Amino acid sequence: MAGIVIIGSQWGDEGKGKITDLLTKEADTVVRFQGGNNAGHTIVVGDEVFKLHLIPSGVIYEKKCMISSGVVLDPRVLIQEIQQLEASGKKIDLVIDPLTHIILPYHNVLDGAQESYRSKSTKKIGTTKRGIGPCYADKVSRTGIRFIDLLNPKRFEELLTFNYTLKSAILTQVYQQELTPSLAETLETYNQLADQLRPYLGDVSGMVHKDVKDKTVLFEGAQGTFLDISYGNYPYVTSSNTISGGIFVNVGIPPMSLKVIGVVKAYTTRVGGGPFPTELENEMGEQIRQNGQEFGTTTGRPRRCGWLDLVMLKYAHRLNGFTELALTKLDVLSGLESLEVAVAYELDGKRVDFPLTAEQLEKCTPVLKTFEGFEMAQEISTYDDLPEKAQTYLQFIENYLEVPIGWVSYGPKRSETLRIEKVSVA
Ligand code: GDP
Ligand code: IMO
Ligand code: MG
Repeated sequence: MAGIVIIGSQWGDEGKGKITDLLTKEADTVVRFQGGNNAGHTIVVGDEVFKLHLIPSGVIYEKKCMISSGVVLDPRVLIQEIQQLEASGKKIDLVIDPLTHIILPYHNVLDGAQESYRSKSTKKIGTTKRGIGPCYADKVSRTGIRFIDLLNPKRFEELLTFNYTLKSAILTQVYQQELTPSLAETLETYNQLADQLRPYLGDVSGMVHKDVKDKTVLFEGAQGTFLDISYGNYPYVTSSNTISGGIFVNVGIPPMSLKVIGVVKAYTTRVGGGPFPTELENEMGEQIRQNGQEFGTTTGRPRRCGWLDLVMLKYAHRLNGFTELALTKLDVLSGLESLEVAVAYELDGKRVDFPLTAEQLEKCTPVLKTFEGFEMAQEISTYDDLPEKAQTYLQFIENYLEVPIGWVSYGPKRSETLRIEKVSVA
């Protein structure tokens, strides 16, 4: 009866996995619609920690999970993830769209080579080196290999041979790098993977089209609004559309009214390069990193940390149309003497809106508003158990963005969440 979208409102790692898992309890289907295994979504259930890169977080509740055509899928990673989940006792009900593009070893090699090449003349993007950009580039260049192609051995061999020869030439002649593994090895490995993944083939677009009419479908975003290929801080972005409007093309469903939950971390983090107006390159940043354990789920890199930025969140709301917010990691700010929040930007001494380019954003200075710090109580069961000063912080965010906060998360566990019923979601 509903389509609910979970979107990262910042630069990723906002806690989308946790929020998706919470909402999955009441849902029937969970769909990943963009990105690939550059994502790292952590879900904590009791003493168990699940780190998912490709399979939708709905797998923890053993709900129907789907990977739509907008995703770039690394079959090696998917098989590993399936095996790990099955080993921990999870039943997997997964459907993969035939039109989903496949990541091949040369995409990883090219990702790394392009990053090294960039770093000689310009700044690195700091990609996850999972082959995401090169795979999407092949899709757009019309040389990509889709899941349906992988499942047809003859067609796969033809397409792989063409691509392998081309990529190998580019790698040796431009990047002075040899392409490994060999064509024969790649063919063998991927033919085996194809056989393992064949049972998961299904018409995701058609199934979602049907399911949104009488079931609850969750669309689990990966990355975040400011990593969007079109509207993020280009070129310091990922290669897919991460914002809510991307869902329709990436799943293959017509535009329809969806509930859009913006996941907002109580402060801001970023992995990789690019501008970050409220970044704290000091002890406070280090304290937040340690308190929040801000180290990448996918690459283990320390995340850059800074204050909450309401200017960027207002823009994120404009792009995504949030109907509710899920505010996460409030507990991480507990114990700080005071907090700051960006409420405006200045560029050349003048107040400006969120700028469209990374170059302009780099030059913006945030105007900060200071809030008194708070100490979280040991026992929290209602909103009123939150310290008054934390409530002031939350109310300010809500008023500034003019979007209700529907969830407050104050720890990684499912139980460490408050549902604030102002509007109905499901
Ligand atoms: P995602 O990529 O948006 O799903 O986020 P990640 O899983 O990469 O990063 C969020 C991290 O914070 C994970 O390790 C979560 O277990 C953890 N987490 C989520 N919500 C909270 C919270 O409210 N408090 C704390 N302390 N940790 C949280
Ligand atoms: P989740 O879903 C945080 C960042 C990388 C790099 C840029 C491009 O866990 O929030 P890519 O490998 O996609 O070409 O890298 O995007 N990035 C993420 N940062 N969380 C993620 O996913 C990310 N996925 C990609 O660090 O700056
Ligand atoms: Mg993550």
